[in-house]
Amino acid sequence: MKRVITYGTFDLLHYGHIELLRRAKALGDYLIVALSTDRFNSEEKGKHCYFSYDKRKLLLESVRYVDLVIPEDSWDQKAGDIHLYHVDTFVIGDDWQGKFDFLRDEGAAVVYLPRTPEISTTAIKKDLSL
Ligand code: CTP
Repeated sequence: MKRVITYGTFDLLHYGHIELLRRAKALGDYLIVALSTDRFNSEEKGKHCYFSYDKRKLLLESVRYVDLVIPEDSWDQKAGDIHLYHVDTFVIGDDWQGKFDFLRDEGAAVVYLPRTPEISTTAIKKDLSL
């Protein structure tokens, strides 16, 4: 069983997120999503979510590619998660290119996937507020 993990906020779930999750799952057999908590978003990432953690978790758990959702509440938890969940591959969009290469020292492959163009949570919020 090859295990894959990804991290993110996934607010206002959109097709860019689904494409990321689809390609992440295709890298293995079991996909874990570490979902940023409301506290982590507001206090450390500077993001204000429209949907609460529980709502974002419910949506992700309904996606066929996702096997498990766990909380992300710290920038430093990734190495621990890799060992705790026996992760083979860490994957994230290429807006983070190079930022998590250090996780290779924990024994995981690190993959950056190209972002889907022209869609983001920020763009949805901006467009709807016009
Ligand atoms: N992602 C992607 N393509 C997009 C948008 C997001 O591949 N068009 C990926 C990100 O690279 C990340 C994951 O989806 O690996 C979760 O991203 P997140 O930051 O939650 O979504 P964004 O839409 O980028 O949100 P924001 O605008 O708030 O940054």
